[in-house]
Amino acid sequence: MGLKLYRCQICGDPYLGSEPPSFCPFCGAPQRYMVPAENYVDRNTVPNLSKQSRENLEKALDLEVKNAAFYFCASNCAPDPLSQAMFKALARTEAEHASLICKILKVPKPEIKPDEKACLKDPKANFAKAHEKEQKAVIFYGQAAKEATEDRVKEVFSALTEVETYHIALSEARL
Ligand SMILES: [Fe+2]
Ligand SMILES: [Fe+2]
Repeated sequence: MGLKLYRCQICGDPYLGSEPPSFCPFCGAPQRYMVPAENYVDRNTVPNLSKQSRENLEKALDLEVKNAAFYFCASNCAPDPLSQAMFKALARTEAEHASLICKILKVPKPEIKPDEKACLKDPKANFAKAHEKEQKAVIFYGQAAKEATEDRVKEVFSALTEVETYHIALSEARL
């Protein structure tokens, strides 16, 4: 059972494993997006990005940066190792989403620091806030996927809708 190299067709990150993972360990995209590295195609250069898609991607970038900053703070504030780890995993996923959007927008990746004002001290309250944030993201990404006229933008917004839907289930289990 040797290691094989896979790449995520959504975030592009490489993964070594004997099998493709059930979800991308970086952006959280489901397994069907994990392809043998030799089959990976970089589709992040979208010619003639429409005004609507550009606006939606800019709004999505802002949302992902804010959510990542919130989760990093929630992780730092969490009193127990389990909540710390959960918020850290979510923060990394959202930061990966931000960097993916930057690749399509061709803008530099912003530095993401924990937002001390965004999160609360109590993990339960933070999960409630997370739940609200993820629900907003799912509604917006679903709309943005419909509005996108470019295949790649549609694909990315659809995948993000799916990932954030899984995040809702995670936070719901902890409310
Ligand atoms: Fe990924
Ligand atoms: Fe996200």
